[in-house]
Amino acid sequence: MGFDTLHDFLGELERFGELHRVQAEVDPLLEVAAVTGRVSRLPGGGPALLFERVKGAAVPVATNLFGSFSRMALALGVPSLDALSGRMEELLAQLPPDQAALGLAALPHLDEFRRFAPVVTGGGGCRDVVEDAPDLGRYPFLQSWPGDGGRFITLPQVFTSDPESGAPNCGMYRVRIFNGNRVGIHWYAGSGAELHWREYRERGERMPVAVALGGDPAAMVAATLPLPGNVDEMQFAGWLRGSPLEMVRCRTNSLLVPAGAEMVIEGFIEPGETAPDGPFGNHTGFYMPSAQVPVVRVACITRRSDCICPATVVGPPPAEDCFMAKAAERLFLPLVRRRWPGITDINFPLEWIFHGGAVISVSAAGEGDVRRLVDEACAAGMLGSARIVVVVNDDIDVRDLPRVAWRVMNMADWRSDLFVDEGRGTPPLPWLGGRLFIDATRKGPGPPVFPEIAMDGSVERRVEERWKEYGF
Ligand SMILES: Cc1cc2nc3c(=O)[nH]c(=O)nc-3n(C[C@H](O)[C@H](O)[C@H](O)COP(=O)(O)O)c2cc1C
Repeated sequence: MGFDTLHDFLGELERFGELHRVQAEVDPLLEVAAVTGRVSRLPGGGPALLFERVKGAAVPVATNLFGSFSRMALALGVPSLDALSGRMEELLAQLPPDQAALGLAALPHLDEFRRFAPVVTGGGGCRDVVEDAPDLGRYPFLQSWPGDGGRFITLPQVFTSDPESGAPNCGMYRVRIFNGNRVGIHWYAGSGAELHWREYRERGERMPVAVALGGDPAAMVAATLPLPGNVDEMQFAGWLRGSPLEMVRCRTNSLLVPAGAEMVIEGFIEPGETAPDGPFGNHTGFYMPSAQVPVVRVACITRRSDCICPATVVGPPPAEDCFMAKAAERLFLPLVRRRWPGITDINFPLEWIFHGGAVISVSAAGEGDVRRLVDEACAAGMLGSARIVVVVNDDIDVRDLPRVAWRVMNMADWRSDLFVDEGRGTPPLPWLGGRLFIDATRKGPGPPVFPEIAMDGSVERRVEERWKEYGF
């Protein structure tokens, strides 16, 4: 069940013809990103890439690992991403009625979820090589865009813990390489790690941090999910992959990290120590200005002897991270449906920047109550970063954007079906406020709802039967 290591996953990708090995020497400064960008924009997302010879480093780089629907499904052990909704639905169905409203926050009470708690082991591949005099300069971390402030680790699992309870958090936050033994981590305000950082600062204590690369792809995906604070991302990864993850305690602090990781960077943040990290060309397709981020002093690096550095190249959508966003969409859809039965489906279109915009369909039960449904779903965080929300009836497939646009043109009366709320700006565009909401559902008999044009069924069938006779 699942893949214990990134190596195992790459092996599977190769078996499925989903991996391309680049044997020519390639520069980690811009060139790896340029090649990856070109491949990931091929129809369907192109193959995953393994750059076997990276200039200035003895370690290969893997990119575009998650950059297609089929690879995302392979990574999470499901036939298609849609199957994730079914799995989540089954799990939620086991919640006792008095806990159902808690949604994901109730998962730790479920036996079916508890059995996926990580197992702590004494070692693992991530300990093959131990470097107590860390030198990050030896590793092929990428600079993706010409205007980036430097090199970044772009596909990390960042582990922190609550200083009071010890509860762990794992998030994917970009890591800037400052020099051989200093990095900066860019976690957004309100993220799990940022909350821990705040608590450590208030106590005036240094904060332990571990940055893991690789391991089971399910763990890498779990790091991107906005799970409630009481749900351990690594336990969720265990549930995703169908067996508990093996974790090992860091050498220089008490954080647990995946034993199957390619590399683990252990370190700590001195209270109040920050440095500017950017600019960074991110998934909006624009450079984000430099921010003051906490500085991690690296205490040691441990790694596999045949370590591979996974990386992603974010930039103008659609790029690899868009497919990761799709896993979250399919996983969280059942939560939305349970809480608001009028909502039948959601699509976060790839081009609308991760979860930056949503198309929602509603059943007859939701019709007429659309504004309330959307307001509530936004307030509850399900559509937290959506800056555009378009609602259609459920006879339209939310993924069929031309049909959605056609419905908007026919159904939305700009005088009554267009709303802009004050909203608050959310990362990654916190300075842009407001949310645009278009209600493109049927409003009832009378204008603008006239009968929709459709061919007579019996004529359709006759044409189908005679198709060849027409010479096609
Ligand atoms: C490729 C990629 C890069 C990301 N980079 C960042 C980042 O730099 N900072 C951040 O706060 N969130 C970033 N995110 C989003 C977080 O991973 C996501 O919000 C996750 O839920 C954070 O974990 P948390 O909920 O435990 O804080 C990124 C997501 C992806 C897929």
